[in-house]
Amino acid sequence: MSETKSPQRAVAFDDSENYPSNRSGNRPFRDVLAAAASRRAVLQGSLIGAATTFLAPQALGKPGQGAGKGAGKGKNALVGFEPLSIADATVDQSMPTVAKEYEYQVLIPWGTPIEPGATTEYDGDPNRRPTPAEAELQIGIGHDGMHFFPMDDDYSPVGGKPGQGAGKGAGSGRLGNRYGMLCINHEFGDNFQVTGKSFPETLDDVRLSQAVHGVSVVAIEKKGWRWEVIASPASRRITVNTPMAFSGPAASSPLLQNPVGNVALGTVNNCGSGPTPWGTYLTCEENFNGYFGATDAGWQPDESQDRYGFTSGGFGYGWHLFDRRFDLSDPDYVNEANRFGWIVEIDPMDGTQTPVKRTALGRTKHEAIAIKELRDGRIAAYMGDDQADDYCYRYVSNKAWRQAIADGESPLDDGVLQVAKFNDDGTGDWLELSMNVPALANRFADMAELLINTRLAADIVGATPMDRPEWTTIGKEGEVYWTLTNNGGRQTPNAANPQAPNPDGHIIRTKDLSDGGLSFEWEIFILASSTRGTENVFTDPDAAYADPFGRLFIGTDGGQPNGLQDQVVVFDTTEENPQPKRLIMGVAGDELTGWAYTPDFRTAFVNVQHPGDGNPAVSNFPRPRDNFSIPRDATLVITRRDGGVVGS
Ligand code: FEO
Ligand code: CA
Ligand code: CA
Ligand code: CA
Repeated sequence: MSETKSPQRAVAFDDSENYPSNRSGNRPFRDVLAAAASRRAVLQGSLIGAATTFLAPQALGKPGQGAGKGAGKGKNALVGFEPLSIADATVDQSMPTVAKEYEYQVLIPWGTPIEPGATTEYDGDPNRRPTPAEAELQIGIGHDGMHFFPMDDDYSPVGGKPGQGAGKGAGSGRLGNRYGMLCINHEFGDNFQVTGKSFPETLDDVRLSQAVHGVSVVAIEKKGWRWEVIASPASRRITVNTPMAFSGPAASSPLLQNPVGNVALGTVNNCGSGPTPWGTYLTCEENFNGYFGATDAGWQPDESQDRYGFTSGGFGYGWHLFDRRFDLSDPDYVNEANRFGWIVEIDPMDGTQTPVKRTALGRTKHEAIAIKELRDGRIAAYMGDDQADDYCYRYVSNKAWRQAIADGESPLDDGVLQVAKFNDDGTGDWLELSMNVPALANRFADMAELLINTRLAADIVGATPMDRPEWTTIGKEGEVYWTLTNNGGRQTPNAANPQAPNPDGHIIRTKDLSDGGLSFEWEIFILASSTRGTENVFTDPDAAYADPFGRLFIGTDGGQPNGLQDQVVVFDTTEENPQPKRLIMGVAGDELTGWAYTPDFRTAFVNVQHPGDGNPAVSNFPRPRDNFSIPRDATLVITRRDGGVVGS
């Protein structure tokens, strides 16, 4: 969800994630008694310790490793490019700016046909909107999390496997570094930008809004020097009206069925994402509450609905006025809202697959997911729930993922869901969320009810309320980075949140003490406020991607200081005191989010989300400045001019 609040957007988008819905009374970080000064000393020790515990010696000894031929000069070759200065980043914000060693190409703006010739293109003309039917065959809006699944020429969409990158199955020369499926989330687009009306006047208006939300699976290929959309049987749009399957412990719960008996349809507010080791795409449903409303003035949220922030007006989309599924007060659809707030698995190589909502991963405002394969083959998945005073989660599969798949099961259906408790001494505990916990068995009838009310369950076990957990990503030594975007409501500082209020956010780094074990270490990776007054200032960390070489890419979402727009900065995590280096500067009003790579790490993809906040008076991106065209979300293809690894 955007942090920017223009008058136009204020109608449709509140900033509700900045306000807690956590009524548990769990001791927030702000209440943890801690002496900031002594904690500071502990932290310094911990950070130095990190060089030996979190980070392998070879990372420090071979700084150029993986940097490719484009490795920068000087003492820091891992992140060797010359960072964009504030002056260079603020010259012209009608188009993106990249560091001088880099270049970019605009790909798949909102309205691009999902395949060449599939439908007409929408080009941002405010006088000619797509129809819902056209929009269902076009790239959606609100580009966010994404992943590139490489393919080789011998890939077959029927029973085929995604290519493992260059060199495998090389047939006539089309390899995964130039050819693959891009899965991309379409988080949101407000009514005025999409339909030209602040509120829907017809069901068609609602259907258009619904059609631009969801996910795109699109085939792309580098032809010559430019990437293009190409045809593929696997290409498809997944929208608010696409049939869905449920799996896992809550799948057959009556709490996911409505009296009217309607089939499960759709995914919405698809924010961050993550790939699985077995080659599928996970898309995360975040602010799903905002698309629901109530036509009955007497409707009141129950405890569960209140915890997820449902209100009678929602975010102002007005879908409930014409589509009964989204009317919280319609008794025929009383459980429709329970069908959202999940992580959804999509097969990028099979255009006929029904996406699966994996209930074992819990129901929260899922920002993103990062999966790590443990040494015994099980997986651990790390997930943030983005709201002020909400929590950090982990899921650990019961079986090794290869064994689960061999047994005809999903590794995402059978496992343990846990929530983080951060202790004052730099340790933490993963608290189980299951019916094995007496307090939870007392509260919920079964695991299905517990999962549907994941937030309430986490309240009960005493999870630590956090400063809006956004993305997670796994570092080169298995450490996990958590972006905590901000918490303007914080009143009292404490060990892990030394600033109150915390409008700039911070990044925490955790490391499980054993694979799948219940204890972890944590430390603050960086306080964004510590960069204020420097050339490399950044705030409001949101999107996060750690590459296997030790680089950490952070996309920001929030008003940046010094006249800057939202940006991508890069850290060398192998340094003792990592500092951000500015790689990309966005366009006016946008947010930079999502991050994907080709297998050789020489092509990266990042998204320009909500350029101009949808207002043509602010931005016409990707068209040149004309004060007319509606700005459109788009993907940027990022490469080094010398062909080196991105970030080097
Ligand atoms: Fe969709 Fe919390 O950002
Ligand atoms: Ca966003
Ligand atoms: Ca985000
Ligand atoms: Ca955000």
